[in-house]
Amino acid sequence: MAYSIHTLPKLDQADTTFQEFSRRLKNLRLQSLKADPDKWVSIYDSEVNQPDDFWWNRLQDSQAIHHILVKNTSESDGPDSKSVLLAGEWVGFVVIIVPDAENKSPEYLMNALYIDTQARGIGLGKRMVRQVIDTVRKHETKAGQAPPFCTASVRHGNDSALALYRKLGFRVVNADGIAEKEGRKYRTIEIRYDI
Ligand SMILES: CC(C)(COP(=O)(O)OP(=O)(O)OC[C@H]1O[C@@H](n2cnc3c(N)ncnc32)[C@H](O)[C@@H]1OP(=O)(O)O)[C@@H](O)C(=O)NCCC(=O)NCCS
Repeated sequence: MAYSIHTLPKLDQADTTFQEFSRRLKNLRLQSLKADPDKWVSIYDSEVNQPDDFWWNRLQDSQAIHHILVKNTSESDGPDSKSVLLAGEWVGFVVIIVPDAENKSPEYLMNALYIDTQARGIGLGKRMVRQVIDTVRKHETKAGQAPPFCTASVRHGNDSALALYRKLGFRVVNADGIAEKEGRKYRTIEIRYDI
């Protein structure tokens, strides 16, 4: 089975493809929160009832890059990313939050890596993280700016994700972090990859 990774294009909200991508992203995100509630600092019950524009805003956020892992249905899915994204099944995603233009510290945040349970254990998580590193590397560093780096936060107990990141060169910068969301606190391990 062939898998490929594609970046979601920034489309106009009125575009039917935008609506379809938004629907699929919502489904995959909700699936991830339901499948692995102990891995996230977000909660299925809080996101499931969000209105459509909550999902549209995520997709349109100019600082967010969405990489989608697609299970290709056939050799003839089409020549471009958009047609592959439309024809194939979405089985994973990862989000990168890029620093804003004013920011002197080029910190890229890797968020929400998820691989569908059916597709785990065959190296696709690693492929996605390598893609994130590549994306960060390709982003232009402005003159006078420090070299870019990528950070992520892993909840305590998520040993398989931590093992994956460490294998690919991330190092632990804080083994005793705290993340807070919607009044709840979570213990985290903060990691970093210097490009
Ligand atoms: C973490 C996750 C993305 C890994 O995806 P994957 O496609 O299964 O990962 P890979 O097949 O590329 O495996 C990469 C490494 O992860 C680790 N790993 C994967 N599955 C594992 C398991 N069941 N037990 C222990 N380690 C495991 C191993 O270190 C593996 O390296 P190896 O193949 O050299 O032994 C996936 O399990 C997932 O989506 N989990 C739920 C969401 C999540 O935890 N996201 C991360 C939030 S920080």
